[in-house]
Amino acid sequence: MFWDSDQPYPLAGAGLGYDQILAWLREDDEVRLRNLWDAADDMRRRSVGDDVHFRGLIEISNHCVRRCAYCGLHVENTKIERYRMTADEILACAREAKEYGYGTVVMQSGEDYGITVAWMADVIRRIKSEVGLAVTLSLGERPVEDLAAWKQAGADRYLMRFETSDLKLYDRIHPPLGNRKSDRFALLEELRRLGYEVGSGVMIGIPGQSYDTLVNDLCMFRSMDLDMIGVGPYIPHPDTVLGRDPQPLPPDQQVPNTELMTYKVVALTRLLCPQANIPSTTALATINKANGRELGLCRGANVVMPNLTPVQYRRHYEIYPAKACINETARECRFCLKNRVQSIGRTIGQGPGGRVRS
Ligand code: 5AD
Ligand code: FES
Repeated sequence: MFWDSDQPYPLAGAGLGYDQILAWLREDDEVRLRNLWDAADDMRRRSVGDDVHFRGLIEISNHCVRRCAYCGLHVENTKIERYRMTADEILACAREAKEYGYGTVVMQSGEDYGITVAWMADVIRRIKSEVGLAVTLSLGERPVEDLAAWKQAGADRYLMRFETSDLKLYDRIHPPLGNRKSDRFALLEELRRLGYEVGSGVMIGIPGQSYDTLVNDLCMFRSMDLDMIGVGPYIPHPDTVLGRDPQPLPPDQQVPNTELMTYKVVALTRLLCPQANIPSTTALATINKANGRELGLCRGANVVMPNLTPVQYRRHYEIYPAKACINETARECRFCLKNRVQSIGRTIGQGPGGRVRS
């Protein structure tokens, strides 16, 4: 189903159904796509305004016990040098975030049980009391008790992408840990119950991801009422199962991992979830270093995540190759993003920038 670009715009929030989403994902006409970009940008402006929120990203450890088929940090990858930041190093990054006016730090790692519950709780408490920023965690599929303890310590938000809602594909790319099956949907519900603001999202163009399941992913974003939704292109990593043996679907069914497809998903996400915080991701900046970030922000996104990780660790956090910002310092990322945001006439958000609800 397609629309004549002269006709009234057919999209609006909950009015966007399965067939329409699918049609947009398969749309390749630049003129018609302009309607999608305009509608998403308009919805973004009316729902969350012109502010772009800065979330300082600290990649606190690249150790991981999991074997996700797409990610370069998986336990069997012996080619990367492993690191874990000290509490003092993390606190120094948080202070730098404060100095730069960021309202939030996001601490991310592989699923690393060297990060103990008590140690992490202490880091969270120190950031809250000594620096006073919103704290977002993205530390993998930890036991519910760990998540509860960190909430108790003062963490505000948790990010965990479900990657795909196609359960067969999900299981193929997320092998169990011992006898614990990976179930991110259950954990996302727990996180909500514990009082976190909850973020999730998917990769776009995972080999085996069909258009149908991507439509379903988008519908899930709406039904889960997510506070934050991160979507980015899948980027093959040569030292992973999927990188070595991708097994894509036939071309008419396989979602491509392209820049264009990423913009479509960002725009549709904004239309389906008007008030969500949506980042213009590093993966998008990686496949279009010139202006991927800006285009994401002009097609629905309202968040960026400047990297604060000390430079000596950055290149080791190789979830995919040729990641943007590998050689830049925290100061350079801040300057770069500030300029990019201002170049498109947007303003820089102040304060924690939590989910707005009306
Ligand atoms: N390409 C793109 N994104 C990836 N991620 C992990 N590996 C890759 C890859 N090869 C994303 C996942 C994960 C987030 C932290 O990074 O969506 O949830
Ligand atoms: Fe890091 Fe542009 S955001 S260099």
